[in-house]
Amino acid sequence: LKRESVAEFAALQLQDPHLGIAQAENPRTVVVDFSSPNVAKPMHVGHIRSTVLGDAVARLLRSAGHNVITDNHLGDWGTQFGKIIYGWKHHLDQENLAKDPIGEMERLYKLVNAQSESDEAIADAARAETAKLQNGDAENKAIWDQLREYSQEQFDEMYGRLNVNFDYTLGESFYNDELAGVVEDLQQRGLAKGSDGAMIVPFDDIPALADKPLLIQKRDGSFLYGTTDLATIKYRQNEWHANEILYVVDARQSLHFQQLFETSKRANYTNATLRHISFGSILGDDGTPIKTRSGESVKLRDLLDEAESRALEIVQEKNAALDPEIQKQVAKAVGIGAIKYADLSQNRVSDYIFSWERMLAMQGNTAPYLMYAYVRIRSIMRQSESTFDAGKVLLLEEDAAFELAKFALRFGEAVGRSLKDYRPTALCAYLFHLAQKFTTFYDACPVRSSEEPLRSSRLQLCQLTADILQRGLGLLGIETVEQM
Ligand code: ARG
Repeated sequence: LKRESVAEFAALQLQDPHLGIAQAENPRTVVVDFSSPNVAKPMHVGHIRSTVLGDAVARLLRSAGHNVITDNHLGDWGTQFGKIIYGWKHHLDQENLAKDPIGEMERLYKLVNAQSESDEAIADAARAETAKLQNGDAENKAIWDQLREYSQEQFDEMYGRLNVNFDYTLGESFYNDELAGVVEDLQQRGLAKGSDGAMIVPFDDIPALADKPLLIQKRDGSFLYGTTDLATIKYRQNEWHANEILYVVDARQSLHFQQLFETSKRANYTNATLRHISFGSILGDDGTPIKTRSGESVKLRDLLDEAESRALEIVQEKNAALDPEIQKQVAKAVGIGAIKYADLSQNRVSDYIFSWERMLAMQGNTAPYLMYAYVRIRSIMRQSESTFDAGKVLLLEEDAAFELAKFALRFGEAVGRSLKDYRPTALCAYLFHLAQKFTTFYDACPVRSSEEPLRSSRLQLCQLTADILQRGLGLLGIETVEQM
């Protein structure tokens, strides 16, 4: 590579609003189905990966010019609601509801669930409440609406803190009226058949699925998760003309998606490519899925609180002189960024061990390290900006400058690699190396004390690096700050 050519391309990249990310020649319409928590339950640590990964995938796709539709497929339908409604009618604690609505709904669910196990009459009564809800009973519908509202408040709070947005939140209930038609259609076309009074889609011709049919209707007439997912595919085809549908869901659901995709293919419900973007679990120190000391799943709210308070301690210690309000803002960005980055920098299919020390470390492949690299460059630039001559030719005589410019040019390639198999880890690794190359450059090439034309050239390399770090972190859903 000729140094002058690299200099020319780097200068072009600096002017490019996409910073060198190639724009798709044939943009695809990609539906990203992610997060999708269940109504009437607290969001917990298990929802982090889908939420953070799905959001990053959506941002990456958009950066390459694709038409992205994000859809939060809430679990807001199904038999658990009969139990909660039964509990609501017989055991509701108004005071607790006002204080902690999600906690109260969870309490009612657990209570009635336990009662149903030992008492057939209560189990039947709860089933009857589900049936009434699904048949449009006004009282049950009103209770259910409240359950959804309380839950949505909780979800909105979490998504607000995580800075995650959805174009649509079409929960499972949205497809209720289509389910009977789906079953009938599959049956008429010979794809589904009765089995013990239930309806299944058998896959006898596929050895791996031979004894694993997809259940689409239970004996009592109720429909299932898979039935809803089939109706959802049809909707996404007919309404959105999706070319690709991504399901960002835990690896434990991989059988469900195999069955779903196979059924959809047989029924020809969509032309879209269906993909399960699967991921592993978050483990505690002991190597089993992370839990609180009392054995419950860790609530997302508590986790985000802890991330922010731990980050605040670090900021207070490292930069005591910073205004307390700004310390708080920085701690928020760093805490949330650290959680996201710890997740995204892993290979998504592997499990990983959750470690506060590691994710908040100022050294290594972490969010704080990258955010700090950005802060440092911005501060160099602020102190020199008055005389900064943008648009000057880049001088890449020093090897460190040449290496940095060459590496900066590979940003688009890193984004492309992350998109190829929806693995943001590739972009994380790239940003980490970019920050390291910048350090080498800055050690070898002083900026503020240098003379023109070197000074403007070096400042432009600072600018290019800062822009890429900011854009790259942004694609991961991580906010940068100006001081730390
Ligand atoms: N609500 C489901 C769960 O918590 C996840 C839904 C994923 N999306 C889908 N289309 N099945 O397990």
